[in-house]
Amino acid sequence: MLAGATALAPPALAQTAVPLGSRAIPSSGELLPAVGLGTANLFDTADEATRQKVAAVLQALVANGGRIIDTASSYGDAESALGDVIGSAAPRDRLFIATKLERPNAAELKRSLTRLKTAKLDLLQLHNVRDPHQSLAQFKDWRTQGICRYIGITSTFHGDFAAIEEVLAREKPDFVQIDYSLDDREAEKRILPLAAEVKAGVLTALPFGRGRLFRAVHGTAVPDWSRQFADSWAQFFLKYLLGDSRVTAVIPGTADPAHMTDNLGAMRGALPDPDQRRRMVSFVEAL
Ligand SMILES: NC(=O)c1ccc[n+]([C@@H]2O[C@H](COP(=O)([O-])OP(=O)(O)OC[C@H]3O[C@@H](n4cnc5c(N)ncnc54)[C@H](OP(=O)(O)O)[C@@H]3O)[C@@H](O)[C@H]2O)c1
Repeated sequence: MLAGATALAPPALAQTAVPLGSRAIPSSGELLPAVGLGTANLFDTADEATRQKVAAVLQALVANGGRIIDTASSYGDAESALGDVIGSAAPRDRLFIATKLERPNAAELKRSLTRLKTAKLDLLQLHNVRDPHQSLAQFKDWRTQGICRYIGITSTFHGDFAAIEEVLAREKPDFVQIDYSLDDREAEKRILPLAAEVKAGVLTALPFGRGRLFRAVHGTAVPDWSRQFADSWAQFFLKYLLGDSRVTAVIPGTADPAHMTDNLGAMRGALPDPDQRRRMVSFVEAL
C-alpha cells in the first residue's frame, strides 16, 4: 500500500522504511513511485512545440518525486519526443521507462530503443494482448539479455480480459497494465485478484476514463467528506485506485505540468479507507 496511508483491505505491504508514495514491484521488491505519466494521444508529433510540452511535464514529474513514463511504439512520435528531451529535462536514471510493442518483433524493439535514445528499457510490454495462447518467450529472452528489466502485458478491451487472464496465469509477467477507473471497475473482479496471485505488478491505464470523470464533475468541488484525503478531483479519482494495495501505480495521461503536479499529489497524505471507497463508488454512480 501507499506508505504512510490508512490501512486498507486487501493486505497491505510493509510500511517500514518505504518512502512516502512508493510501492514495491512484486517480482523484485524494487520500490516505485505510485503515480506516473501516460503519453497516449498527447505527444504524437516530435516537433519543437511538443518537445517543450514533454520537457515541462517530465520536469514536473521528477520534481515531485515521480519516475514512471508509459509510452508505446504505436503512440505516434511520442517515443521520439520523449527521447529528444530525456537527459536534459530529466536524468535517464531517475526515470522508469515503460514502452509497448505490438508484437515480439526485434525490428520494432530496436526502433523503440533508438527513438527513446536508451540502451535499456525498464519495462517492455506487449500491447493489447488478445490471443490466449500468446507466448512471452521472446520478451523473457530480452529480459535475460538485459535489454529490459521487467516484462508486461496490456489491454483496455474487456472482451480480451479472458485472454489477458490466460496469458497472465501461464506466462507470469512482472506487470499487467489494465484500464481501471472509479467508474469502470471491471478489473477489480477479474484482473486484480489474479495479478496478486501470480505476483504481477498492476499499472492502471485510463485512470480518468480518458477524462470522462472530469467531465462528469465539471464545475463542482470535491465533497467535504473527501477533503481529508483529496485536495482535487484528480486526487479523488487516483486515490480511489491507490486505495487498493494490489495497484502498483496509476499512469494518468497529461500534457499539462500543473496537472502532472496535481496528479503526483495523490502520492501524499491519507488514502480512502474501504468505507470511504464504497462511498466514492456510490457518489460516482449517482452522477
Ligand atoms: N492498451 C493499453 O496499453 C493502453 C490503452 C490506453 C491507455 N494506456 C495508457 O494509459 C494512459 C492514460 O490514459 P489516457 O491518457 O488515455 O486517459 P486518462 O489518463 O484516463 O485521462 C487523460 C485526460 O485527463 C486529463 N487530465 C490529466 N490530469 C488532469 C488533472 N490533474 N486535472 C484535470 N484533467 C487532467 C488530461 O488532459 P490534460 O492533458 O489537459 O491534463 C486528459 O484529457 C495513456 O496515456 C497510456 O499511457 C494504455
